[in-house]
Amino acid sequence: MLKINPVKKIGIVYSFNTNKTSKIGKKIADAFEGSAEVEMVNVEDITADRFLQFDNLVCGTATWFDGELPNHWDEFVPDLEEMDLKGKTIALFGLGDQKGYPENFLDGVGILAEIFEARGASMVGFTSTEGYSYESSRAERGDQFCGLAIDYESQGSLNKERVTAWVEKLKLEFK
Ligand SMILES: Cc1cc2nc3c(=O)[nH]c(=O)nc-3n(C[C@H](O)[C@H](O)[C@H](O)COP(=O)(O)O)c2cc1C
Repeated sequence: MLKINPVKKIGIVYSFNTNKTSKIGKKIADAFEGSAEVEMVNVEDITADRFLQFDNLVCGTATWFDGELPNHWDEFVPDLEEMDLKGKTIALFGLGDQKGYPENFLDGVGILAEIFEARGASMVGFTSTEGYSYESSRAERGDQFCGLAIDYESQGSLNKERVTAWVEKLKLEFK
């Protein structure tokens, strides 16, 4: 019998109203075109039910306030901390500024990863820290970041190739 692989469905969750994060969220969605069914979800109006509709999630956040999550993600943390995320596969992308905030580079990604892991999610989309220069990061796991690190301020010219390579990796890592 002919077996047809179902199209992967992926929720991309980020703030539609922030400048750089939303630009990268759109680029990620474009890079999945033709290989997955993608739905973009604004974290500013998210609910727990909406979040839990997806088995594959890409979540994007900047780091604000010297090592903190932006308000919109921060407000959703109490819901996230109650969720059972077993069986969910989650990839994170983060916006940060390694020269301006070298002691807290990409901390927002680390904060979300810690919550998702504690709730049982399987994290994918780790990337090498090679080519970045900073002092410390909550998103660092050995020689990897637990997500994609985008720095518009000092490495904006690398965004396109970083996004493309990352999405190719996710196509294999998402179920
Ligand atoms: C007040 C302020 C605090 C910031 N704190 C951090 C930080 O702690 N770590 C970091 O990596 N980037 C930090 N950044 C840089 C932003 O994360 C970066 O500019 C990001 O691209 C902003 O994305 P957005 O336009 O989607 O908000 C900070 C920026 C501002 C303006």
